[in-house]
Amino acid sequence: MYEILDDRYLSPNVKQFEVLANRIARKQQPGQFVIIRLHDRGERIPLTIADSDRERGTIQLIVKAVGKTTQEMMNLSRGDAILNVVGPLGIPSHIDLFGTAVAIGGGVGAAITYPIARALKEKGNRLITILGASQENQLILLDKFSELSDQIYVTTDDGSLGEKGKVTDVLMRLIEEEPAIDYVHAVGPLQMMEEVSRLTKKSNIQTVVSLNPIMVDGTGMCGGCRVRIGGETRFACVDGPEFNAHEVDFKTLNQRNEMYLDQERESLDRFNLEQGSEKSTSSPFDPDCKLKKILPSNF
Ligand code: FAD
Ligand code: NAD
Ligand code: FES
Repeated sequence: MYEILDDRYLSPNVKQFEVLANRIARKQQPGQFVIIRLHDRGERIPLTIADSDRERGTIQLIVKAVGKTTQEMMNLSRGDAILNVVGPLGIPSHIDLFGTAVAIGGGVGAAITYPIARALKEKGNRLITILGASQENQLILLDKFSELSDQIYVTTDDGSLGEKGKVTDVLMRLIEEEPAIDYVHAVGPLQMMEEVSRLTKKSNIQTVVSLNPIMVDGTGMCGGCRVRIGGETRFACVDGPEFNAHEVDFKTLNQRNEMYLDQERESLDRFNLEQGSEKSTSSPFDPDCKLKKILPSNF
C-alpha cells in the first residue's frame, strides 16, 4: 500500500497528491510515469510523476477527473492509501542544451510539462513557457512556471486570464517573432499537440510530444498503447511516452483513444450511481458535469 501524505486541489477538478513511494522517488527522472491501481477491483491507469522528494521518499501525482478512476481518486485524501503504484515507467525525457526551448502545457498537460521544463532550464536553456487552459480556474502551476521561465505566456479559451485564445496562437506568433526557437516540448490534448507539430514542422523546429494512449500493463506486453511513429508501430509505455512530434500519426491515436468511450461512460455512470448521485445526463467528459460531482464544499 502507498500512503497519501498530502493532497490539495489545484483547480476544481484537478488534485495534487504526495504519495509515499521511496524506491520510485529515488529512481524517477523527468518524463517518467507510474501505473496505479486504487484497490483490488480498480483499473490500472498511467499518471506522470510530476515531482519527487528523495529525502521524504515521496512522489507527486497531479490528476484531473475525467472518468471513473480519476473521479474516484478525487475522494482520496491524506491518510488514505493506493493499492499499487508501479514505476518509474517509460523512457526519461532527452534533456540537452538546445538553446531557446519552448515548453507548452495545455490544461492538465502542464503537470507533465513541469519537470521537463525545469530540467531544460537547469541544463542552461533559455526557457519560454506557454500555458493554456479553458478558463482561469483550470490553469495549474502558474506560480511554479513563472519562477522557472525566462518568459511566460498564458492563454485561456474565454480570455478570463492572459490572452484570449489557444497556446498555439502564441506559438505561431513566437515562431514569426523569435530569432531562433531551437526546441519545443508540448503536452496537452491530442488536437493541441497535432497543431503544435503542424506549426513547428513548417519551420523545421525539433519538437517532442508526450503521448497519452490508453495503457494497461505498462510493460510492452498487452499492446494497448501502440502508436504509429514514422510509419512504424511503437509501444508508448516502453518506447515513449515521448516521441518526435513530426512523426506521430495523430489521427490513428485519436481513433484508438475513442474506442471505449461508451464503456467509459457506462463505468462512470455506474460509479456515480453507487455513490448515490444521479446518473449523469451529459457526457462524463463535460467539465461542468464532472465539476458539480466532485467540487469540494470549500472550493
Ligand atoms: P476513463 O473512463 O478511462 O476515460 C475518460 C476519458 O479520458 C475518455 O475521454 C478517455 O478517452 C480519456 N482517456 C482514457 N485513457 C486516457 C489516457 N491514457 N490518456 C488520456 N486520456 C485518456 N492524467 C492526469 O490527470 N495526470 C497525469 O499526470 C497523467 N499522466 C499520464 C501519463 C501517461 C503516460 C498517459 C498515457 C496518460 C496520463 N494521464 C494523466 C491520463 C490518465 O491516464 C487518464 O486520464 C486516465 O487513464 C483516465 O481514466 P478514467 O478511468 O478516469 O477515465
Ligand atoms: P483542455 O481541453 O482544457 O485544453 C487546454 C488547452 O490546450 C486549451 O486551452 C488550448 O490552449 C489548448 N488546446 C486545446 N485544443 C486545442 C486545439 N485543437 N488546437 C490548439 N490548442 C488546443 O485541457 P484539459 O481538459 O486539461 O485536458 C488536458 C488534455 O491533456 C486531455 O485531453 C488529456 O488527454 C491530455 N493529457 C495528456 C497527457 C500526456 O501524457 N500527453 C497526460 C494527461 C492528459
Ligand atoms: Fe501494454 Fe504498453 S500498456 S503494451
